Amino acid sequence: MRKFSILFLGILMALLTLENCKPDVPDAPPGKPESDSLYIGTTYTIAKPFRFSNINNTYADSLTYEGVELGRRLFYDKHLSSTGQLSCASCHKSEFAFSDAGHAKSTNVFGPTKRNAPSVQNLLWAPKIFWDGRSATLGEQAKDAFHGEQDLNVPNAIQYLEADSEYVRLFKKAFGRPGDITEEHIYLAIQQFGMTLISSESHFDKVQRGQEQFTESEARGFQIFLTERGDCFHCHTHGNDLLMTDNIFHNNGLDSVNDVNDFTDKGRGEITGDINDYGKFKSPSLRNVALTAPYMHDGRYQTLEQVINFYSDSIKLSPTVDAIMLKANHANGGVHLTAQEKQDLLNLLYSMTDTSYTNNPAFQNPF
Ligand code: HEC
Ligand code: HEC
Repeated sequence: MRKFSILFLGILMALLTLENCKPDVPDAPPGKPESDSLYIGTTYTIAKPFRFSNINNTYADSLTYEGVELGRRLFYDKHLSSTGQLSCASCHKSEFAFSDAGHAKSTNVFGPTKRNAPSVQNLLWAPKIFWDGRSATLGEQAKDAFHGEQDLNVPNAIQYLEADSEYVRLFKKAFGRPGDITEEHIYLAIQQFGMTLISSESHFDKVQRGQEQFTESEARGFQIFLTERGDCFHCHTHGNDLLMTDNIFHNNGLDSVNDVNDFTDKGRGEITGDINDYGKFKSPSLRNVALTAPYMHDGRYQTLEQVINFYSDSIKLSPTVDAIMLKANHANGGVHLTAQEKQDLLNLLYSMTDTSYTNNPAFQNPF
């Protein structure tokens, strides 16, 4: 009898779980009240990859599959621009780790963008977004991009979204009653999608997890990267984590400037107003960097070889240049790597390419 009731309970629980995972509930027929379940999305749980910092983001617990799916549609939807020609994905292409590879500057509805469109990945862990860190959340960032790049007309956008039954359904599921399509919900949905853009399956990761091995050259490259020889780790790692950025603002010595007011782009300083921040930019993650040329906030370098040559021999001085660039091992403009060391560092950077990220079907155009 006991066995039976345990079995019965088991079956009941299995059925209940199945019920919870049931896909979408159809809209109520005309004249009938809409079912409550129409307003309840399915929880989406983010798994923290190996050696990523703990998730410390207040929004990360409230993701739903429908919210993420909604965000993906909005990300790829060109109707959300004044020209009808531009979506987030126009400048953030999945095959290039969501950068606009091949373009130093992108073209928005007003003309060329001010800066290079960076790759987008693992921003759930970034306390500040954009080269100058002007947004604190991905939702704020989306608002900035919709207005700054796409010239979004909010009333028109809401009208368009309300006329699309799939959007109506997803907004209800993602945000619950009353399920209204609002400006804020547009940004929050993009934020949900943005949080799921996680890259953690490169050869580099697998080596760190003990599943694959570095080639000899990659292993040497990692040594250069992680030691005073190359000194890259100060800004492109953070503690023991594998984000490959410290998410902090630095002047890495791109320009020779005597007076901080002479920086063509004041970067972080434009936001804080502090002259000590002039010419500083957020360290980009080196993940997928082989896919995202050209490089730096203005796209000045066409190849990774040029970037490595810069760190090796061409660091320039200015009042806010990072103290690391002034260390003894950087005398005369850099750490002066040999041709072999440059090749090793390059191979290390290539090992951070994650094609399972760029090819992930969950991140592609849903239209
Ligand atoms: C016309 C091209 C263009 C469009 C359209 C565009 N972006 Fe961007 N994106 C950029 C540029 C350029 C930057 C760098 C701007 C800066 O940092 O000042 C950027 C930066 C970002 C970043 C910051 C990455 C980081 O590491 O800090 C994110 C995230 C992002 N965009 C997401 C979006 C989303 C979401 C949309 C749609 C709502 C969008 N972008 C639309 C060009 C574009
Ligand atoms: C003092 C901090 C610092 C150090 C040390 C440093 N970087 Fe950087 N790195 C940055 C910053 C900041 C940027 C962006 C600068 C900009 O665009 O103004 C950057 C940009 C890059 C880029 C371009 C990425 C992109 O998406 O545009 C690469 C590649 C790179 N660094 C690799 C390295 C390597 C390799 C080393 C070691 C030889 C190194 N960095 C050392 C801070 C640093």
